[in-house]
Amino acid sequence: MISGIGIDIVHVRRIQHWLDVPGLVERFFHPQEIADARARGAGCPLSLAARFAAKEAFGKALGTGLAHIRLGDILVRNDPNGKPFLVLEGTARARFEEAGGGIAHCSLTHEGENAVAMVVIEVAEPSA
Ligand SMILES: CC(C)(COP(=O)(O)OP(=O)(O)OC[C@H]1O[C@@H](n2cnc3c(N)ncnc32)[C@H](O)[C@@H]1OP(=O)(O)O)[C@@H](O)C(=O)NCCC(=O)NCCS
Repeated sequence: MISGIGIDIVHVRRIQHWLDVPGLVERFFHPQEIADARARGAGCPLSLAARFAAKEAFGKALGTGLAHIRLGDILVRNDPNGKPFLVLEGTARARFEEAGGGIAHCSLTHEGENAVAMVVIEVAEPSA
């Protein structure tokens, strides 16, 4: 069953600004996420915008926001078909398990200057 949903939108300008400040993206993104995004060349800022939206969508799906979670501990990767999935490490994994765990599904979209992410958390049905 679904235990939480979250959605967020990020304007690419915010990320472009961060990319201009040395060391700033490293505060908010996992090194793997930065490497994956940089490999997209001109698509890098929009890719990071979608991934930042996913972090905030995850906080909303959790219901607690992102308090006590290192943003770099929430990582979006893509499977061989391009489908995004969330990897939760450290503080994000801990808060997720405290909230009941399960599976956190993720969907991303970007168009023009905005990126949107949605996260749905699925947990097992309680046994009758
Ligand atoms: C929950 C959180 C992710 C909301 O993100 P936001 O970008 O500030 O806000 P948005 O405009 O996207 O969304 C606001 C909506 O989120 C919803 N929301 C607020 N707190 C929420 C929570 N704990 N759980 C689920 N949804 C929540 C509300 O519906 C709110 O709209 P409303 O006040 O009109 O009802 C935010 O509180 C948070 O934890 N932000 C951390 C961001 C951060 O660490 N940034 C660092 C880099 S600058």
